[in-house]
Parts: sequence; C-alpha cells; structure tokens
Amino acid sequence: MPRTGLLRLVSGEAKAYGGGPMVGFSGNFGEQILARAKELAAISEDDGALTRLFLSPQHKAANDRVAGWMRDASLSARVDPIGNLVGRYEGETPGLPAVMLGSHLDTVRDAGMYDGMLGVLTAISCVEALARQGRRLPFAIEVIGFADEEGVRFGSAMQGSHAIAGTFDPARLTMQDAAGIAMSTALEEFGLDPTAVSGAARRRQDILAYVELHIEQGPVLERHGLPVGIVTSINGVTRLEVTLLGHAGHAGTVPMDQRQDALAAAAECVLAVEARCRAESGLVGTVGVLHASPGAINVIPGEAHFFVDLRAPEDAPRRAAVEDVQSAIAAIAARRGVTQRSRVVHELAAAPCAPWLMGQIERAVEAEAIVPFRLPSGAGHDGMVIKTIADIGMIFVRCAGGVSHNPAESITAADAEAGARVLLRFLEAFKPEPAHGR
Ligand code: HGY
Ligand code: MN
Ligand code: MN
Repeated sequence: MPRTGLLRLVSGEAKAYGGGPMVGFSGNFGEQILARAKELAAISEDDGALTRLFLSPQHKAANDRVAGWMRDASLSARVDPIGNLVGRYEGETPGLPAVMLGSHLDTVRDAGMYDGMLGVLTAISCVEALARQGRRLPFAIEVIGFADEEGVRFGSAMQGSHAIAGTFDPARLTMQDAAGIAMSTALEEFGLDPTAVSGAARRRQDILAYVELHIEQGPVLERHGLPVGIVTSINGVTRLEVTLLGHAGHAGTVPMDQRQDALAAAAECVLAVEARCRAESGLVGTVGVLHASPGAINVIPGEAHFFVDLRAPEDAPRRAAVEDVQSAIAAIAARRGVTQRSRVVHELAAAPCAPWLMGQIERAVEAEAIVPFRLPSGAGHDGMVIKTIADIGMIFVRCAGGVSHNPAESITAADAEAGARVLLRFLEAFKPEPAHGR
C-alpha cells in the first residue's frame, strides 16, 4: 500500500499527504527513540555499563524519567504495587478497555540499551503522535514499563507481569538477592507495601490485547533484509537453581582420588547441559551464573551454586530435557561423592501469539510497504505471562548481528521508526476480537 494519507509530524506540526486518516512519523521519531534509549542507558548501577535491576534506585530513576516522557505525550503515569510503570491514554471516552503496549525497563548485567526499553519508548512515541493530532481512539492505550522481566536480582523472572496477570506467587517475596535482601524488604525500600502486590492485578475485560514491540535479539530479520517481523510464538523456559556440596580442603595435600570438589562437579554438569541440548535441535541450554566457595586459589571448592536456563519452542521436549539434566546432575554428584540440590525457580510454557493479532500486525506491516515475515521468539517476554489475561502479539525490530544481552546491541533510527510506524498503524486500524470479554 503506498504511503499516501500520511500525516507527517515534523517538529510538532502535521501536514496531511493525500487521503486517509493515517498518522505516520517523520524521521524525528526514530531519532527521538534512540536518543531516549541512550539517556536511559546512563541510569545504571555500574559505571560504563548498563545494569538496572528490579526495585533498585536505578529502577526508580528510570521510572521517573520515563514517567516524564509519558506525561509529555499526554499519558497519565503511575507506579503500580510491584513497581511497574503504568501509562494510560484514554480513548474517546474515559474508562474504556485498553490495548496494552509496553515492555520492560529492567536489564541484564552489562546490557544493551534496547532490550525492553525500545518497546516502552516506541509505544510512548505512538501515543505522542496521536496526542499531537488531538486524536482519541475507540479504546484506551496503556503503556507498561515492566519492573522485572529479566529476573536478574532474585532469580525468578517476570515478577512485574505476574503481578499484572494476577499470578504473582507471594512465596517469591522471601527470595533473596546476592546481598541477602529479600524481595519484600526491597519492595519496602522502594516505597511499596509487600502485602499489597495483588493490587496490581488487572482484569481480562479491561485489556483488549497485549502487543509488545521488541528487538529480535537474533539474526533472522537482518538475514532477510527486513526492518520488522511478526512474532508467531515465544519459546518456553525452565530455570533450575543447583547447589553442590562437596568438601573444602587443602589444594596441596588432598590426593586427587580423595576429593569432593564441588566446582569440578559443577563443571561436569555444565558440559552435561551443553551435550544434552546439542543433541536435540530447537533445544538451548545455558549456565550463565556459577559461583564456587570459599573462592581461594589454594582451597578445593566445597560448594558450587549455579543456574541452568533451558528453552525450546515446544513444552514436551523442554520438560524432557529438564528431567534428563536433573538426572545427569544427580549421577555426577553421586559419582563424585558430592551432595546436590536442584529446584525449578522459574518456568513458563511456550506462548503462541494470537492469529487475529498476527493478522492485524501483518496488515500494518504491509501498509508500511514492508514484506511481512513471521518468526518465533527464542527470547522470553512478558507476553508469556500476560497471555493469561489477554491475547498477545509481538512486533520484532531488526538488531545488528542479532546481538543482545551485550552492550554491542544496536539498531538504526530508520528501523526504530519503521517499528513505530507499524505499531501506530496497528493501533489506528485495531479492531477488538469479536469474542472479547465474553
Ligand atoms: O531471558 C530472556 O529470554 C529475556 O531476555 N528475559
Ligand atoms: Mn532480555
Ligand atoms: Mn527483553
């Protein structure tokens, strides 16, 4: 479809080009999104690297900054009982059910600046484009800055979306971070009441759909020469926490055949995870965190503590791999005279995107004269949890080399703008699913 009828927003004024009510973007929205992502990237607990964790002072500072941009774009902005930032742009009349947009504002350690932030900033820019036209749609728009998608601080991910979906497990409040601070204490220090988290829950009848724009975090769009893609489903994930208890000893005196070396046992477990996942296509397995103690050069490690992250497009193969990995860990520990404890700390089933939403996103992509392309998500997203209260859709934006969870993560302003134009077109043409709310 030609780019007729585009209202171009050039420094605040709007000129209609041809027919049709479409609102489009001039190049300044792509630049604006990248500039804001860069500004947010400076809000970090680490100098020279981006690390922003759930309920940290940096989380609060980022919420404050993004809330300012929300209000500039005519959204109201509030922090919900678990620390999510919730922006709202009313529809034609106040209180209408909303199309929920957004992504997460927390990051991994030494993160890239677009994972999560791109979806929040793009959604704000879309509302800003509508607000500048004084336009109200037949539904409200909400933009969520989720508080804890990555789960880096406490080990269990998606706490923000679990609270919104009403599936938050209060037992998580006792989970501790590396400094031994419980989630409940962190909520209090953030100015929130740990007994009130359930107040963040939303009702299905109030949410027409959840659509998240996110960088692809993979190389597929780049390989196909496309700026955006339509997500078909999100791979399921299981996270295991494993503790191996051996026997600390003198590195110089204990003979090799009399050791209970917890770190050597852990190393064998890491290779067992890798071997199991290499053996089956579609499976991915990672040990990204491994601590050994007491942590002295001349002491045989008595304890090892690590996390396993296992994923697959289908749930059955993932669950089979989890079982096999846990059996392998038990066998390695027994053979080495090491005791082991492993438990599932986070698990989400594979989440298919709703066909009716994929179709509407696809039409928005075509309206931008971009070849529609559908692809699965290997990375996890809040939609895996929000799907319990709303149908989900996702728009992927190309990122250089597919690099993510790495400071080298990057996108172009043109692709940021393409993503924003597709999301705005989607919003302007959005029709709720006929069965919604029944
Ligand atoms: O781990 C993930 O897939 C996402 O980045 N939280
Ligand atoms: Mn991530
Ligand atoms: Mn993400």
